[in-house]
Amino acid sequence: AFDVVLARSGRRFTIAPGQAIHEVLLSEGVEVPLSCEQGVCGTCLTRVLSGVPDHRDSFLDASEHARNDCMTVCCSRATSPELLLDL
Ligand code: FES
Repeated sequence: AFDVVLARSGRRFTIAPGQAIHEVLLSEGVEVPLSCEQGVCGTCLTRVLSGVPDHRDSFLDASEHARNDCMTVCCSRATSPELLLDL
């Protein structure tokens, strides 16, 4: 599990294994733009302010993944205990 913190509201959510970030956010009433939900389209691309994403998408290329400054919240996860997102 890892935590997601929303920079604008300070709200914190724990993402359990088997849960996707966007599923948890939507269930808590946080609107996230979504389309494919499979890491293909980039609609859900979100800025990462701190923490290290575990990129699972095929939208960003390898150099974009390496920057770790944005992620697809529909399918990507975290390798750090916490992600601070620009939401
Ligand atoms: Fe398409 Fe996340 S919704 S990449």
